[in-house]
Amino acid sequence: MTAEKLLLKEFLLTDESKTELLGAVLSELCPGDTTIYLTGDLGAGKTTMTRGLVRACGYHGIVKSPTYTLVEEYHVGERDIYHFDLYRLNDPEELEMMGIRDYFSAGSIRIIEWPSKGEGILPDADLIVNLVIADNQRRAEISAMTPKGRAVLEPLFFPKAIPEQVVI
Ligand SMILES: Nc1ncnc2c1ncn2[C@@H]1O[C@H](COP(=O)(O)OP(=O)(O)O)[C@@H](O)[C@H]1O
Ligand SMILES: [Mg+2]
Repeated sequence: MTAEKLLLKEFLLTDESKTELLGAVLSELCPGDTTIYLTGDLGAGKTTMTRGLVRACGYHGIVKSPTYTLVEEYHVGERDIYHFDLYRLNDPEELEMMGIRDYFSAGSIRIIEWPSKGEGILPDADLIVNLVIADNQRRAEISAMTPKGRAVLEPLFFPKAIPEQVVI
């Protein structure tokens, strides 16, 4: 990806609940039709953050990692959420075969773990959340890559505007 980031915001996530909370805050701020890349090592908290986002939308079932299925989908209320994990993708071309374009044409939130595996085929991100393991905690670096992503990120500079965010 060659796109430049428009805005960057960092958070320290002191435990797992804070990682979920960040997902919940993003769910509140993201319009339909948003693409979020999640980057960071195995165990950094990408699936944990997704769980927070999906649950905050009102889904009460299990949010499991789509490592083997490539994609899990959630349809809650007005929202369609597609959670991809491309870790086991051998070739980005496989995304064409699974009909990736259909997931991206609808108004939906697309969350993609290991986006580097789909480079060249995967549509660009509005937001990139990079999770960094810092001893027993995590650091989140959120980059806005498009004007839409910037509109999601801007309120995070004013924590009092978002009740949940005060405790991150
Ligand atoms: N902020 C945090 N501080 C400490 N541990 C965390 C934090 N967020 C998540 N974890 C833990 O890190 C692990 C992350 O796993 P997972 O979300 O599956 O990572 P990934 O999808 O990036 O491979 C889980 O064991 C979770 O409990
Ligand atoms: Mg994962």
